[in-house]
Amino acid sequence: MTIECSQLKTAYSTALNRPILNGIDCQIKQGEFVALLGLNGAGKSTLLRSFVGLVPVKTGEIRINDTIITPRTLRRIRRDIGLIFQGGGLVKQSSAIDNVLCGCLGSLNTWETLWGFPKQQRDRAFDLLTDFGLKDLAYQKTRLLSGGQQQRVAIARALIQSPQILLADEPTSGLDVIAAQQVMEILAQLHQKQAMTVVVVLHDLGMASTYADRAIVLDAGQIVYDGKCHNLSDKLSQLTPPKVEV
Ligand SMILES: Nc1ncnc2c1ncn2[C@@H]1O[C@H](COP(=O)(O)OP(=O)(O)OP(=O)(O)O)[C@@H](O)[C@H]1O
Ligand SMILES: [Mg+2]
Repeated sequence: MTIECSQLKTAYSTALNRPILNGIDCQIKQGEFVALLGLNGAGKSTLLRSFVGLVPVKTGEIRINDTIITPRTLRRIRRDIGLIFQGGGLVKQSSAIDNVLCGCLGSLNTWETLWGFPKQQRDRAFDLLTDFGLKDLAYQKTRLLSGGQQQRVAIARALIQSPQILLADEPTSGLDVIAAQQVMEILAQLHQKQAMTVVVVLHDLGMASTYADRAIVLDAGQIVYDGKCHNLSDKLSQLTPPKVEV
């Protein structure tokens, strides 16, 4: 599946109402692995969230597989997109398997959810957790899992509907080197074996160069670099961080 943005401008409905994304033009092709980079506050999460209709579009448009995202088209397209939120976004009091099942809430009708999740979905959630080495922890409360284990639960939740696009917002933050590498390997395998289109927000430039085909660098809501993952530290060092006064 492809993602295309043209002249995308978004603003959150706050008193400031300032544009957060300010004229984004980009095309992500089927099966690409793209790293989204930039300083804190640049708009990376906002861009990912706008792909799934979680941020109001002011002007411009987003197309997924040539379909313009609108409230009407979103429901159909949303099923094909898995999103891993920054920080995991898990319900910590619920079990790992219940969190994974939350990933298919959008595709079930009210009656189905009233009677509990169908066996087919529960089996699939359990299989995914097993694939990610969490078989014995499937019924454990998520707050009792380590950061790396929670991140794998978040990936399983994004995958339960077999999406064709995977959007991952800092999936390795807070993880040790080994756990971070394991998470990236999972994403790389999904990309290679299932030709999934992957867009991942990263702060680790080494990870970006190792795994991504292409890097997009955002600065203050605009794309300032879009190309190969070469000399990324040079590209990032040209950005101006906001002044912090202590
Ligand atoms: N829900 C919101 N309501 C209002 N403003 C928001 C909201 N979420 C983010 N912003 C603002 O939008 C800008 C971009 O935020 P965003 O979260 O997209 O940055 P980011 O590049 O993901 O940063 P980070 O690396 O810190 O995660 C920031 O100035 C932030 O304050
Ligand atoms: Mg972010």
